[in-house]
Amino acid sequence: MKVLVLNGPNLGRLDLRDSSLYGDLDFAGLKKFIEDQGSSLDLEADVRQSDSEVEIITWLHEAAEGKIPVIINPAAFTHYSYAIRDAAEMLTVPLIEVHISNPLRREEFRHTSVISGIASGTIAGFGPDSYRLALIALKGMLK
Ligand code: DQA
Repeated sequence: MKVLVLNGPNLGRLDLRDSSLYGDLDFAGLKKFIEDQGSSLDLEADVRQSDSEVEIITWLHEAAEGKIPVIINPAAFTHYSYAIRDAAEMLTVPLIEVHISNPLRREEFRHTSVISGIASGTIAGFGPDSYRLALIALKGMLK
């Protein structure tokens, strides 16, 4: 079973971001970690990253049309992109929101997620393990 794992802006430059929040993996390392965790659960993780809202919306349309479940870290778009929320709302299969850091422990503007309300669930604050936990949750939902 295929799963789209979508990542929003600046996650492609994890190596340049605050390692106390985002850990030591660069994006290539994170991608490999997610793919390996997916394989161990018999899930084919198609891991993508974009800084473009348009591209992420296009990928969500693809998921809605193909009925492909989604794990998404919308990054900063989490906090204000109604367009990504509307695209995600079209899915008839599970969508899990993940964050590497715990936005609720950070600045107040990060305390709002416009995505959580249409997600099956949200996993935040466990570093790369947030994705692993999301894959496990998804596997359970797809049974
Ligand atoms: C993030 C948290 C967001 O607030 C932030 O804008 C990001 C990454 C996370 O994974 O912890 O870019 O989504």
